[in-house]
Amino acid sequence: MITALRGTADILPPATALWQFAEHTARDLFARYGYAEIRTPVFEQTELFVRSIGDTTDIVEKEMYTFADKKGRSLTLRPEGTACVVRACLEHKLFAQARVQKYYYLGPMFRYERPQAGRQRQFHQIGVELFGSYSPLADAEVISLMVRFFEAAGISGLSVNINSLGDADSRAAYRDLLREFIEPKAGQLCPDCQRRIERNVLRVLDCKVPLCKEALEAPGMPTTVSALSGPARAHYQRVLESLTAMGIPFREDARLVRGLDYYTHTIFEVTHTALGAQDAMGGGGRYDGLIEQMGGPATGGVGFALGVERLVIALQHVARKAQQAAKTVYLVSCDEPALAENLVLADALRRAGITALAGYEQQSMKAQLRHANAAGARWAVIRGSDERAQGAVRLKNMETGDEALVPTVALVEKLRETGR
Ligand code: HAM
Repeated sequence: MITALRGTADILPPATALWQFAEHTARDLFARYGYAEIRTPVFEQTELFVRSIGDTTDIVEKEMYTFADKKGRSLTLRPEGTACVVRACLEHKLFAQARVQKYYYLGPMFRYERPQAGRQRQFHQIGVELFGSYSPLADAEVISLMVRFFEAAGISGLSVNINSLGDADSRAAYRDLLREFIEPKAGQLCPDCQRRIERNVLRVLDCKVPLCKEALEAPGMPTTVSALSGPARAHYQRVLESLTAMGIPFREDARLVRGLDYYTHTIFEVTHTALGAQDAMGGGGRYDGLIEQMGGPATGGVGFALGVERLVIALQHVARKAQQAAKTVYLVSCDEPALAENLVLADALRRAGITALAGYEQQSMKAQLRHANAAGARWAVIRGSDERAQGAVRLKNMETGDEALVPTVALVEKLRETGR
């Protein structure tokens, strides 16, 4: 038997209903903030990711699906969306159209990581990117959008962690502080990190090797916030104030780092206790140098992406599924003619916007009610010769077991009244 590859997954019903719910919630909410959808290819020139994410990051060094095509060009399955959206906007000259641009995307991403619960090699992100503003208000709005999205999806128990890397000056100052701190401990570090001290010392911070993590636990470890320049500190304060004004709870986390090189100023991550070790539901931040570095205008950018697999794990915890299914009506046929009549009735219910399910073969009442339960139906509509004689159906509340005779012509109205 040929099976799906390790780290990839088929997404099957009933989970697909949760995926659709997540996607629908995102589209609906993001549109209210003025974001439009953008769809980019799943593979790009490798160079795009090396230049934007950074050649010393774990993603680029270890996790990319890179291959040569038939003409020998180096291509890579996208490991994230930000670089792709920036590339598309540059290519189609969208930066010239309006100062502020807001895009969202949904789709698969690829990273060669060790698979475990909530961590896959093909996973899915929902993300947004806002281009064209350096304002801390944009950071705050993007963070609030992420939080409001989780609220709209019915997820609570989230923690929003924030930190700032500052501008170019702050980052240079921090790099010096960190190098000073870590150089004497170089012998303890993994070979990759030993190289990183010279090439890109910030990357030591998100190394997953336990020995490297331990070295950073030592007293005196400098924080990025301690190296912020005056303007960078003011930017960060303004973000925090705006979040407070919107009533968004957050936690400042001076140890927060992100695994991509393009970030400046505000960085953030949302975690959830339901997720265990892979607890990051989503993350993002500001990336002011990226667009210019990719050949575009000098302009600010900020965005986030969340992992849909992880969101769905959290949704399963809040039993959103039950709510989805509660609207279903199951049509039960007590005799052969009722099967055909129910096909017509189901058609009428569906055209009236009601989810209606019915069988195609004669089965016992018990078996049909079992199917209704399995489908999570809130109502069963039962019809046989008695009901037919009265031009009616029996409407059974699947929760309470209560039954009432309802004229067939009045059924749609009755179901509407009861909230289906
Ligand atoms: P990221 O933190 O690398 O950021 O990924 C965002 C989210 O994608 C993570 O918080 C996690 O939920 C999910 N994710 C990442 N890797 C995996 C995996 N192997 N399996 C399952 N889920 C995963 C970015 O990708 C940035 N582009 C976000 C961004 C947008 N920053 C600014 N704009």
